[in-house]
Amino acid sequence: MKIKIRPQNIVIVGGATGIGYATAQKLLDNGCGNVVLASRNLQKLETASKSLQHTSDQKISVYEFDISDVKSHNEMIQGIYNELKVIPDGLIISSGVNFDGSNWKGFNISEKDYDKVMDINLKGVFFLIRNFSNYLFSHQCKGNICVVSSISAHRDLLSVYQISKNAVSGIVHAYGKHLCERGIVLNCVEPGAIHTDMMKHLSGYTDGIREGKPWSDNSIGRLLRTDEIADIICFLMSDLGEAMSGSCVLAGGGCKTLSW
Ligand SMILES: NC(=O)c1ccc[n+]([C@@H]2O[C@H](COP(=O)([O-])OP(=O)(O)OC[C@H]3O[C@@H](n4cnc5c(N)ncnc54)[C@H](OP(=O)(O)O)[C@@H]3O)[C@@H](O)[C@H]2O)c1
Repeated sequence: MKIKIRPQNIVIVGGATGIGYATAQKLLDNGCGNVVLASRNLQKLETASKSLQHTSDQKISVYEFDISDVKSHNEMIQGIYNELKVIPDGLIISSGVNFDGSNWKGFNISEKDYDKVMDINLKGVFFLIRNFSNYLFSHQCKGNICVVSSISAHRDLLSVYQISKNAVSGIVHAYGKHLCERGIVLNCVEPGAIHTDMMKHLSGYTDGIREGKPWSDNSIGRLLRTDEIADIICFLMSDLGEAMSGSCVLAGGGCKTLSW
């Protein structure tokens, strides 16, 4: 099956690493014209942009951006327009943090850490979806938005991360159909565990097996890979994504349990 990426000027928040980076490469492989990597660390962004493979008519840009700074959202969108000279019509939100643990320790999270997780994983996501949508409405443009939620949205992890992801999937359910009526396709993917910077404790698995034991939490017996999630995101950002509007695609490899 050949897919055609619907938007041609796509911003990936969290695009320098992990799922976001893999998605940038897949979008380029599928012919996307402009890809903008946005996150807080400029050095990581520049390193990532140099290592992506692309053709001479494809452009990769970087933008230093903190999603939790809601006041800066419109400036970022306008800044990207100024750089590309075309309206950004695609948004992938792959940013996220998780540092509060998945046990009773998580219940005792400090107010400061609670705010940090929620500001990045939920408040920033809600307002960026809103601000980007309003920008497209004001320019009478169609567009696609895909958010990376998590399988945690369905779990009882006793963590603020889990609460934030549950709410992010909720945003997609709540707003997907309304945005679709106005030409914006909003979907999300809910991945299972993948070894990325955020999940450093998963190091040491080769093909999902560590110390002779396969990953036991799902039915495929291995960790998921960033390129698998990137393919799902590309599907949701393609012409086919419209049929899925307002959906949360669970990519858990046949997850066996709802708690760790
Ligand atoms: N790995 C997994 O097992 C897993 C499973 C389910 C869901 N997810 C979700 O997948 C998404 C991507 O995570 P990943 O696994 O690919 O880990 P990752 O490589 O650590 O990616 C997270 C990205 O978020 C960016 N980021 C963090 N805070 C930000 C902020 N305030 N503003 C802008 N960007 C910010 C980081 O860049 P900077 O530090 O440069 O800002 C980084 O590039 C996250 O939403 C995560 O919750 C991951």
